[in-house]
Amino acid sequence: MNGKSLNKMKDKFYVTTPLYYVNASPHIGHSYTNIAADTLARFYRNRNYEVYFLTGTDEHGQKIAKAAQNEKLDSLKFADKMVNRFKDLWQKLNISYDDFIRTTEKRHEKTVKWVLDFLYKKEDIYLHKYDGWYCVPCELFVTEGFVVENKCPDCGRNVERISEACYFFRLSNYQEWLIDYIKNHPDFIKPNSRYNEVLTFLETNELRDLCISRPKERLSWGIPIPFSQDHVTYVWFDALINYVSAVGFSYDNKKFSKFWPADIHLIGKDILRQHAIYWPIMLHSLDIEPPKMIFAHGWWLSPLKGKNQKMSKSKGNIVNPLDVIKKYGVDTYRYFLLREVPFGLDGTFQEEALEKRFNSDLANDLGNLVYRTLTMVEKYFSGRIPEDIDENSIFLNPIIKAIKDLGGRIDKAICEVNFSSALIEIWTLINSANKYIEETKPWNLFKEKKNKELGEFLFILIEVLKKVASEIYPFMPETATKIKEQIKKDKIKKAPPLFPRIQQ
Ligand code: ME8
Ligand code: MG
Repeated sequence: MNGKSLNKMKDKFYVTTPLYYVNASPHIGHSYTNIAADTLARFYRNRNYEVYFLTGTDEHGQKIAKAAQNEKLDSLKFADKMVNRFKDLWQKLNISYDDFIRTTEKRHEKTVKWVLDFLYKKEDIYLHKYDGWYCVPCELFVTEGFVVENKCPDCGRNVERISEACYFFRLSNYQEWLIDYIKNHPDFIKPNSRYNEVLTFLETNELRDLCISRPKERLSWGIPIPFSQDHVTYVWFDALINYVSAVGFSYDNKKFSKFWPADIHLIGKDILRQHAIYWPIMLHSLDIEPPKMIFAHGWWLSPLKGKNQKMSKSKGNIVNPLDVIKKYGVDTYRYFLLREVPFGLDGTFQEEALEKRFNSDLANDLGNLVYRTLTMVEKYFSGRIPEDIDENSIFLNPIIKAIKDLGGRIDKAICEVNFSSALIEIWTLINSANKYIEETKPWNLFKEKKNKELGEFLFILIEVLKKVASEIYPFMPETATKIKEQIKKDKIKKAPPLFPRIQQ
């Protein structure tokens, strides 16, 4: 992610999430990607970037059409209803997106048709017969050799045999280009394990052209192909284009050149192939630069039949984020997801682990620091934050130095999309402040009437709180605001403990 440039307009930061299928309500997995994206968006806004944070919903395809049929609803009506469940959850989780795109919107449909026409004219799209397998839950064409006993190699569910005229996109023409591109851009796919996975796949398999259409007689719920009466667009080809259709490609060049290329596409590792292979090739064929980074995070797992498996609605092992935030609060939930598992690895969602983090990191470390600091300001200085401080005498204080260094350390962690390590940096400051209290023994300074020392000591602690509040804001916006409110004026406004301990 680029550094600050001088004498120029604000730098921009364009971050995206996947567009989620609307066949079912969002669960922890979906909320994870959006919380991560929201944290990046808030972080870069704080650092004065012009941020464009895009999320949305993927509404076409067989899976959605079937789900709508099951509820005896028209596909679009069904999607309308489901979209609200996503928007409601994003609101409850304080997801500060700048744009929410639905693949059923006009701006998107127009751009998809433009892309199809362009690629067809360029002959990167051609008509041919497809004879092979299709997995509806994954909305994926499955290569012959990978199907065992009619099962999808990705999700293990039954695949369908399809034999029909199909429009193909020439992926195969660009395999060498993509291999070179990836090799020349070591940060294009993150984390490194995913980079290696994609590169190895490309070096050991021959890409086949991708079928990008479905016959209307079998599936009418999709974007019509402009040069065919009989076909709609394959849902993945349609959906990926959202990343450019949302920022104006084909209709608002000024907006498009301002925000593209995206700085980061956040996705789960389940949809790496589509993002790291299909998408860059589609863009290249359109003469558009690829996004700067694709980051594929790991999965939240949850117990099923005695094993931890990917949380998924169809398997039935989901945890509803609404239940968790009702019980523990939004910020506890956001904190836990980003702190518990290094971004990129899998994790198992366990309530006991969440309660443990709540009691130690939030109640004991952060909550306590805020509460006892304000209690001391109340008790020793009648609630006035000491300000008559000798700058020189606190200059060498290690806590002051730690405050000054924190921003740079967090910048580095966030550049590496390493949320847990950014949080660890913040907690290192919190814990040294707690230790500073134990070591300074302010109650003695008070008894001995050492007012100057006591004033400096509390001044430093308040500086810590200000710094912590501003740095945790991207992760825990409500908590940050609550801390700021308490120390906004020179007369403090102490509130009850932020995170009262949970009895386990
Ligand atoms: O794939 N753990 O939509 P989708 C972590 N419409 N993240 C998870 C998760 C889990 N157990 N389950 C889901 C689609 N996710 C397509 C995308 S993009 C142009 C089209 C998150 O509803 C994660 O971000 O199946 C994953 O990649 C995404 O939800 C898949 O959502
Ligand atoms: Mg999925």
